[in-house]
Amino acid sequence: MVDKEWNSNLYDNKHSYVFKYGEGLLDLLKPAAGEKILDLGCGTGHLTKLIADSGADVIGIDNSEEMIEQAQKNYPSIQFEKMNATDFSFNNKFDAVFTNAVLHWIPEKEKVINCVSNSLRDGGRFVAEFGGKNNVNNVVKAIHKNLRSSGYEQNISRLNWYFPSIGEYTALLEQFGLMVKFASHFDRDTFLDDGLNITDWLDMFGKEFFDGMNLSEKLKIHKSIAEELKSTNFREGKWFVDYKRIRILAVKKTM
Ligand code: BEZ
Repeated sequence: MVDKEWNSNLYDNKHSYVFKYGEGLLDLLKPAAGEKILDLGCGTGHLTKLIADSGADVIGIDNSEEMIEQAQKNYPSIQFEKMNATDFSFNNKFDAVFTNAVLHWIPEKEKVINCVSNSLRDGGRFVAEFGGKNNVNNVVKAIHKNLRSSGYEQNISRLNWYFPSIGEYTALLEQFGLMVKFASHFDRDTFLDDGLNITDWLDMFGKEFFDGMNLSEKLKIHKSIAEELKSTNFREGKWFVDYKRIRILAVKKTM
């Protein structure tokens, strides 16, 4: 699992589109009053709160201490725990596990799906959205090309994002007893908030590629990546990232 350091302030204030887009996923979850729901990778807790507003009994977990602290500050009445998505378990089963914009950070997808499946009751739902095949492809290609041409090829393997196709991911879910009811793969070009540059996105989400470089070297490579992406990822005066999402609803079926 990528042990990423998160800046919860920056996440809440400048990259809030991550959880704002996740609000649409609640229509697929359809949380009901009294249901026990797990928010896997809850970040600063904004979607956890929306789930709680439905009357469901929700717990948020995240692997980042900083995110959990911020979530607990934001919503003191909700239960948040620091737990790893590849290794979590609870005494009681959930009616649903929900996760938004998290699973692409975790290459050990079998471990995650195993924990999800074990934590659901028979008939419980798994509702997920994350980066699908070819997600942020323009950005990834520009990063890799520029790391190579500047002598930092070894940095490429530092972030191993997982962007599966629907076929790959639904087959995995079935192996773990999760029957897929709905799956979609769609484009979502996502404009960055006002004034943000593609290099701000790199600092927030792709920082590990550039860790250890001196500042001027990093800025030089950032500039070159931005120049390259201007023709594909800059429109009407704003930067956007070429997100591709995979959205899933699956149901636990005990054989
Ligand atoms: C995503 O939400 O798809 C994503 C965000 C940051 C890095 C990679 C993917």
